[in-house]
Amino acid sequence: MAVKYRGKGSKVFASILAVSIVLGSGGLVSADEGNGKSSYSQDQKIVARVSAERALEHVKYLSQEIGPRVSGLEGEQRSAAYIANTLKSYGYDVEFQYFPVADQFIANVALNDETVWEMGAAPNGKISDEAVKGQVVFVEDGTSLSDFSADTAGKIVVMARASTVAGYQAQVDNAVKAGAKGVILQSLVGSRGNYGQAFNPSLAKKYDVPVFGASYIHGEWMKEEMAKGSVEVSLTAKHYSNLKSVNVIATKAPKGKAKDTKEVILGAHHDSVVGAPGANDNASGVGLMLELARVYKGYNTDKELKFIAFGSEERGLLGSRYYVDQLSQEQRDRIEAVFVPDMVATNYDKAKNLYAMTVDGTTNAVTNASTAAGARLGNSDILPGTFGSSDHVPFHNAGIPAALFIWMGIDSWNPLVYHIEKVYHTPQDTMEDNISAERMQSALDIIGSGLFDTVRKDVPALHKK
Ligand code: BES
Ligand code: ZN
Repeated sequence: MAVKYRGKGSKVFASILAVSIVLGSGGLVSADEGNGKSSYSQDQKIVARVSAERALEHVKYLSQEIGPRVSGLEGEQRSAAYIANTLKSYGYDVEFQYFPVADQFIANVALNDETVWEMGAAPNGKISDEAVKGQVVFVEDGTSLSDFSADTAGKIVVMARASTVAGYQAQVDNAVKAGAKGVILQSLVGSRGNYGQAFNPSLAKKYDVPVFGASYIHGEWMKEEMAKGSVEVSLTAKHYSNLKSVNVIATKAPKGKAKDTKEVILGAHHDSVVGAPGANDNASGVGLMLELARVYKGYNTDKELKFIAFGSEERGLLGSRYYVDQLSQEQRDRIEAVFVPDMVATNYDKAKNLYAMTVDGTTNAVTNASTAAGARLGNSDILPGTFGSSDHVPFHNAGIPAALFIWMGIDSWNPLVYHIEKVYHTPQDTMEDNISAERMQSALDIIGSGLFDTVRKDVPALHKK
């Protein structure tokens, strides 16, 4: 039986709080939306039908069945196919929009038990599918040649990477001088306080041995293996070129289309970073989008609605930028609102709110619709905020109202510091470690109702005061 998960919405206190927050941010809710019973009954058409469980089936497929969905590579292509097939099965017209992306250098570290870890490879290290096999040794520091003992020769050296590029360049130099067959640099902390993610070491000169950039947890797992006994690994790397990435676009035509009909977009990136299954970032946003697409199929809407899965967000918002770039000014002018769910289901305890973030902190059609929906539903999870770093940015830069939806924590006493899960961009961004069905349900309810209110068939009664 389907279990429905609910946010903390039903409390009266929560409802009052949400309304006061919405009104406090500029009185942006019109009177008939802020307390409108009719809008509320429209919300129920969505809330009664959307299921976190169904959305999480998509998260499961994308993050477990496919795994990492790296820009331009097979995982991303498979994810595009899965999303397109799902949208087609709901009855939508679907198109693929391809665009070129830069080369990738991908490393694989195979252990004896058939486990394979995906990492970044240094383009200046050995890139070959001819395996380099050897025993692993862990070297402390490594910025000085004296850190390497005589038995380093012929081994695969693992080191915690120095914080600077010059620092890890010295580590690699020394390891190679000491006779290492291969080098793995363990990333420690990420730029957002997350555990270090896999990376492509950037080396100033060429080396004959493979040099890989491991995530923090890969290094820790390696130590655990070594604690059990001697570890042998097999290193391979591949240079992928002439790559293309892909946006998947499904369109829901408005009922009774008029020439000046506005368009609304729900768009989530479907790629992930190297070595990361990307369950929360961003299979969650795609799962939410697919589940809303399923439910909306049953309703007529006034405006054109587009569901878009963007490719290559993690490489610089490439898919959304490409999408916006190829629109004419006239097409841009038609877009009324862009909803961008990205990381909408973490279970991280410090990520206490679902933020509707705009690039410059101003409220717009998207933040207003979603905070108003939260208020009507009595769901106090939603708050407005300021943030870039996702697919809403290219739309914003083109003057199109857009907002990012993300669960995070922001301390009222220091709004510059934000909290996101430590497993962000790492191999631990998995269903088991980083997904909350309750948070997914809250995001579905709020975004689903806010978006529906933006596109649905106009009910004349709603405009009566
Ligand atoms: N989902 C993140 C964006 C994000 C992360 C928002 C943390 C808020 C807090 C997104 O997938 C991401 O990592 N974006 C890149 C964008 C960059 C390549 C332009 C980033 O911010 O590093
Ligand atoms: Zn993301």
